[in-house]
Amino acid sequence: MMQQTVLVTGGSGFLGQNIIRRLTGEGYSVSCLDRYEAPFLEECGAKFISGDISEVKHLEGVLEGVDAVIHMACTILPQMSNSDPLFDVVTNVGGSLHLLDAAVKNKVKKVIFFSSGGTVYGVPRQVPIPETHPTNPTCSYGISKLMVEKYLRLYRELYGLNTCSLRLANPYGPYQRVKSAQGAIPVFCYKALTGEPIEIWGDGSVRRDFIYVGDVVSAVLKAVGTEEEIPQEINIGSGQAVSIRELLAFIAEATGKELDCRYKPARAFDVPVSMLDITLAEKYLHWKPETSLADGLRKTVEYIRQNCI
Ligand SMILES: NC(=O)c1ccc[n+]([C@@H]2O[C@H](COP(=O)([O-])OP(=O)(O)OC[C@H]3O[C@@H](n4cnc5c(N)ncnc54)[C@H](O)[C@@H]3O)[C@@H](O)[C@H]2O)c1
Repeated sequence: MMQQTVLVTGGSGFLGQNIIRRLTGEGYSVSCLDRYEAPFLEECGAKFISGDISEVKHLEGVLEGVDAVIHMACTILPQMSNSDPLFDVVTNVGGSLHLLDAAVKNKVKKVIFFSSGGTVYGVPRQVPIPETHPTNPTCSYGISKLMVEKYLRLYRELYGLNTCSLRLANPYGPYQRVKSAQGAIPVFCYKALTGEPIEIWGDGSVRRDFIYVGDVVSAVLKAVGTEEEIPQEINIGSGQAVSIRELLAFIAEATGKELDCRYKPARAFDVPVSMLDITLAEKYLHWKPETSLADGLRKTVEYIRQNCI
C-alpha cells in the first residue's frame, strides 16, 4: 500500500501530539497545521505549517496531495464558549468550512472531525448515550461542534466527500496540560503530587466517562485507515462511567498520596451522569478501549512526575 499523507489541524495540542507521534511511528507522512509550533513535531518527523484555519489564505496549497485530514483545530473550551458565541462560530465553524472547501477542491479522500460527546447531546435522557440521542447542547461549543458535524454531512451529500465525526468523551493522559481549565484528571493528579488542595464542585457523586488517550489514538487510526463505509457520527468513550469520588480514590492509589479535597457548591450545568454508548465504534471501527482507569492513571501520573514537577 502507498504511504498515506495526513494533515492534522490543531495538531500541536494535547490530542494532536499523541496522534501525530503514533501516525509517524506507523509510517504515515504527516503535516500539522497550527497557530503554534510544538517541538515534538520535528522530533517525530512531522512537517509544521504555520496557519489559522479561520484565515482562508492560510489554507492555500496546504491540502495538495493530502489523502486524509484529521480536523482538531478549535479555539475555545466548552465552559468559556458562552461568553462569546460569535467568536466561536466565526473561528471554528467558519474555519471548518474553509477546510472542507479546500478538501473538496483537492479531492481529499477522508476528513475525520473531532467533535464532543460531552457537549453535543446536552442533558442526557438516557445512559449510555447512543449517537441517535437528541442533540440539545447547553453551551455554544456544543452547538458549533454540531454545526460542523452537519456541514460534514452536507459536504458528503453535495460533493461525495468522505467524512466522519468522532464524538469524544473525556480524554486524559500524557501531554495534557496540568494547569488548565479543561481536563480534571491531569489537574487532580498534579495537585495530588504537589500536595495542593483539590477543588471539587458538588459532592463528587457526578459520574463521567474518562478515556485514556492511547485508546482515542487507536480509534482515530482505525477511522483513518479503514476502507469500509463507517457511520457519519461515532461515539468514542471508555464504555463506563466513574464518580468523581471513585476517581479521587484511584488517583490517591496511583500517586500514593493522601489528597486534600475541598468540596464546593455544585454547578447548575453539571449533569449527574454522562457516559457514551460505544456500540457503533465497536461494530464499525472494530475498536474497543483497552486501558483500564487504574492503568491509564498510572501512566498519566508517571508522565506528570517525569515532565511537569
Ligand atoms: N481535550 C478534551 O477534553 C476534548 C474532548 C472532546 C473533544 N475535544 C476536541 O479535540 C480537539 C483537540 O483537543 P485538544 O485537547 O488536543 O486541544 P488543545 O487545545 O490541546 O489543542 C488544540 C490546538 O488547536 C490549535 N488551534 C486552535 N484554533 C486554531 C485555528 N483556528 N487554526 C489553527 N490551529 C488552531 C491550537 O493552537 C492548539 O495547538 C479539539 O477540537 C477539541 O474540541 C477535546
